[in-house]
Amino acid sequence: MRKPIIAGNWKLNKTPSQTVRLIEEFKPLVREARCEVVVCPTSACLFAAREALKDTNISLGAQNVFYEDSGAYTGEVACDSLLELGVKYVIIGHSERRQYFAETDETVNKKVLKTLEKRLKPIVCVGESLAQKQFGVTEEVVRMQTRLALSGVGVGDVEDITIAYEPIWAIGAGMTASSTEANDTIRQIRRVVAEIYTPEASQKLRIIYGGSMNARNAKELLSTSDIDGGLIGGASLKGDLFAQIVNAV
Ligand code: 13P
Repeated sequence: MRKPIIAGNWKLNKTPSQTVRLIEEFKPLVREARCEVVVCPTSACLFAAREALKDTNISLGAQNVFYEDSGAYTGEVACDSLLELGVKYVIIGHSERRQYFAETDETVNKKVLKTLEKRLKPIVCVGESLAQKQFGVTEEVVRMQTRLALSGVGVGDVEDITIAYEPIWAIGAGMTASSTEANDTIRQIRRVVAEIYTPEASQKLRIIYGGSMNARNAKELLSTSDIDGGLIGGASLKGDLFAQIVNAV
């Protein structure tokens, strides 16, 4: 009952003209997609992307948003602006934002609450570092991140949320979690959601995998019981590779 979703996180790559070119390249290749397809370019490229995505089956996502509506917050972008730009999804709490831009579980939660209030759909990132994995605390880490991110979220909003399990050690590393490993952690995350809400509610929320997912490993990861899609970094920057992942669903 959960529709799979494949989202491309372009990170800090592509200018507006390059954004249009990349979209033009892959949009005919994903026309028959049996999943939701999302691209998340930089904020500066959202307007160009929206124009290029008109009359396609591809949705627009942003990589970040601020939790206030307006005010003296130099450099930030508000939900209302994203909505006007045709944005539907927002990535929140990516490990790169936690690492380089002081994103915390608290700001992640504020952003989740604000996006839901504005009817944007958050893609909330959780995942352990290599050291945490080696200490064997992956479950504790994702459990805590999930609980804090969803704090104050009503049960009625759960189905608008996507959680992306992105083990930090697998991001941009050319090394993925095995499909069993990723599926097990994703099942644990779903169990946490069931504890907070109800088992039924936990079945409505999509949980996807991110971390060196590519055209070669996508099929195996996506054929597991609980992985509902992917958040793709590097491989989403090449039209044919991204399309192959989408079409692996
Ligand atoms: P890579 O696919 O490049 O490992 O990046 C994953 C990611 O961080 C997506 O948000």
